[in-house]
Amino acid sequence: MAVPDPTSDQTIAVIGGGLMGAGIAQIFAVAGYDVTVFEPNDEVRASLHDRTRSNLAIIGEDENAAERITLVADMAEAVASATYVTEAAPERLELKRSIFADLVEQAPRDCILASNTSVIPITRIAEGLATAERIVGTHWWNPPYLIPLVEVVQAEKTSGAVIAATMALLKSIGKSPAHVKKDTPGFVANRLQHALWREAIAMVAEGVCDAKTLDDCVKNSFGLRLPVLGPLENADMVGLDLTLDIHKTMMPELDRHDRPNELLSGLVDAGVLGFKTGEGFQKWTPEQMDETRKRLLQHLTAARVT
Ligand SMILES: NC(=O)c1ccc[n+]([C@@H]2O[C@H](COP(=O)([O-])OP(=O)(O)OC[C@H]3O[C@@H](n4cnc5c(N)ncnc54)[C@H](O)[C@@H]3O)[C@@H](O)[C@H]2O)c1
Repeated sequence: MAVPDPTSDQTIAVIGGGLMGAGIAQIFAVAGYDVTVFEPNDEVRASLHDRTRSNLAIIGEDENAAERITLVADMAEAVASATYVTEAAPERLELKRSIFADLVEQAPRDCILASNTSVIPITRIAEGLATAERIVGTHWWNPPYLIPLVEVVQAEKTSGAVIAATMALLKSIGKSPAHVKKDTPGFVANRLQHALWREAIAMVAEGVCDAKTLDDCVKNSFGLRLPVLGPLENADMVGLDLTLDIHKTMMPELDRHDRPNELLSGLVDAGVLGFKTGEGFQKWTPEQMDETRKRLLQHLTAARVT
């Protein structure tokens, strides 16, 4: 298939105008593209321009960029002349498969079809669909206008040309795309993140320390290095011989359950859901939740590179 030239005009469409879809549309709009968003929920659709203006105000960018986003209630209309589509609908495999089956029919033959799934392998979404070579994963991070990474996931049938065009397009709008060559659940960053969370939950369950102490240990130690030093750079810096000696002691001790920890499933079964209910691994007052959200936004804004 012919793939869009990222340096020429693109016609961008986004499927789903919730948290991520709106943020992704915002990035393309700020980069100067006209973007059409298909959002089936009337209220969500009606709120998108205000949400985008508010996000742009927070990061000190021109709020008028929101006007480049057109909202529609019909998916075929959104993608009729698209060259690049990003799907950001709810994280359910059957829903995404049905959306991609429609996209294959409704979007022009050369249009790239990208999914923003958090963890579902793209190969499962594209299975059995025609023109699967143009279906690719693009895993953006929340909020998309503050976090640079987009993982570009190569599914079994995704063509090299589609990967190259997607990487180039994302780079041209200021993102930091990373080519994920194997379509593994969670891709790279969520797989790493949840390996850490699995161990964190296991340690609290074992009584090694309480949840707040565990989070303080991360924030006051290797968490401080992470923006500068990735884990493998860190291993190189301390020496692979030392890393090997440490792993000989540590590896037999690490959690190796192949299902969610019972501490986590027990809390969820008891209706203890975190910020949503005011209690998770810790108790949260409304003020503490607001303060935590504010500190995160300030930190990400200060660290912003795009
Ligand atoms: N929230 C995050 O931090 C985050 C980060 C990265 C990736 N993701 C992924 O992005 C996707 C969207 O997540 P979100 O957080 O924006 O969810 P969201 O609930 O905020 O938005 C999803 C939107 O899709 C709409 N929708 C429902 N059915 C649809 C359909 N058939 N076609 C098109 N739109 C439909 C909903 O009305 C809703 O507005 C999910 O796959 C999620 O896993 C989320």
